[in-house]
Amino acid sequence: MRKPVLAGNWKMHKTAAETSSFVEAFAPMVAHAKHAEIVICPTFVNLPAAIGSARSTNVEIGAQDVFWLKEGAYTGEISAPSLTAIGCRWVIIGHSERRQYFGETDETVFKKTIAALDAGLKPIVCVGERLEERESGATETVCGGQFTGGIAGLTLEQFAKIVIAYEPVWAIGTGKTATPEIASDTHRFVRGEIRKRFGAEAAGSCRILYGGSVKPDNIKGLMAQPEIDGALVGGASLDPASFAAIVNF
Ligand code: 13P
Repeated sequence: MRKPVLAGNWKMHKTAAETSSFVEAFAPMVAHAKHAEIVICPTFVNLPAAIGSARSTNVEIGAQDVFWLKEGAYTGEISAPSLTAIGCRWVIIGHSERRQYFGETDETVFKKTIAALDAGLKPIVCVGERLEERESGATETVCGGQFTGGIAGLTLEQFAKIVIAYEPVWAIGTGKTATPEIASDTHRFVRGEIRKRFGAEAAGSCRILYGGSVKPDNIKGLMAQPEIDGALVGGASLDPASFAAIVNF
């Protein structure tokens, strides 16, 4: 049985005060949710506020990115050990917005994933195709390439500790959710790639989350798909009641 992960990616939203009041309102709404792991990923500067407010709750906190070296002359970057040191438990790696605007490549995704694992963080590694890639029938080529370049080089032991998020770029922030069937098809494809590279057991236990316009009113249909093991939620994770409705689907 794969335990679902419901993660909120807050992107560049909320101040420290807003982060704390969110967590204080949200945590009691999901306090009885034993069926899933619950993660919130605020901005770097708001991690301490989130971690402080989530202490003694079942909500874990993650970062939205990480650098691949432990320390050095890399102005503006944040290391994995510095994240674990403050109580951060998860990290999103390779989000399409980082690929699109900040030069993230499969190679940097791979290096960041190893750095995160070395520091004891749980990586949520993102893959997903753009609209023109889907329309030209390249979804599997693109997601397969991102898997090969960003994930397949891990050892089996490393792979067992990561979560994958499939986020079709055309569904992010657009209100156009992939239908549960479309999402499921790509999840099945990714799981097939995992099986080829890491074997049936690893494929059977890896959690693959769906992301892209997940809302309280579509989460049930998505989670009804055996291939979908949770969600990475953007906009709908910014309101406590909305994200709680998603967690308690
Ligand atoms: P939305 O849920 O706002 O579409 O964002 C999805 C996403 O990018 C989560 O990482």
